[in-house]
Amino acid sequence: MSCKIKTFEDISALSEWFADTIITVLNEDDKPKNLFLSGGSTPKAILNYLAHNYKDKIEWERIKFFWGDERGVPADHPESNYLMVKTNLFDVVKKTKKNVFPVKGTQFGNGECKRYSGLINKEILNNPVNNNIDIVMLGVGEDGHVASIFPADIKLFDSTSLTAQTRFPKTNQHRLTITGKIINNAKKVFVFATGINKANIVDIIINKKEGWEKLPASYVNPVNGELFWVLDKNAAGEKNIS
Ligand code: 6PG
Repeated sequence: MSCKIKTFEDISALSEWFADTIITVLNEDDKPKNLFLSGGSTPKAILNYLAHNYKDKIEWERIKFFWGDERGVPADHPESNYLMVKTNLFDVVKKTKKNVFPVKGTQFGNGECKRYSGLINKEILNNPVNNNIDIVMLGVGEDGHVASIFPADIKLFDSTSLTAQTRFPKTNQHRLTITGKIINNAKKVFVFATGINKANIVDIIINKKEGWEKLPASYVNPVNGELFWVLDKNAAGEKNIS
């Protein structure tokens, strides 16, 4: 695993770099690529930037979209990660209809984890065309969570299952999340952090300062892939980027 830290002046520069990285992945061959999306304000801002500035520069129709986590709410609920991506990306780009594989937020009690794991197996891991987990997008919370793997769920990085159900600690909201079995078997994993409020958690994790081992983001470690921590200057604790 290689870990690269990329720091940018602002969300625009960061998003442009990410867009170029997606284009590079798409240019590897003519196969469809698999991308796991993240919720959160930073991923939302990135997706919105890509939609408006790379609508015709990225072959969106070649990407199969999955979610790294979802809230236990309907698809039209304001907290739905599906709705966030639909609003900020799909409704702008208008080229992704058939390649979107959302989690069913209202079906957590009806075996949704099993269904979504089965879908990931069918569409990716058992797919003869492309069985790679090509790109995983993650945000990082101020408590060091990624996807919906919270500090209490850190064991999910060793899970033998592809997905799991958790609860958001602050509200007890049901969540479905991918586990380390997906994250750490991906070819490229991007952890995005912007804003001064993330500087502390980023510093603890990246520099393995006291308590790092209690933080889920510390266990993002794609064994045969590349890990990128993608920061703006505020989250990187830097004043100016040269
Ligand atoms: C979610 C995300 C979550 C998010 C982080 C960072 O569903 O909310 O999966 O992991 O990415 O909490 O979110 P912010 O960028 O809003 O701080």
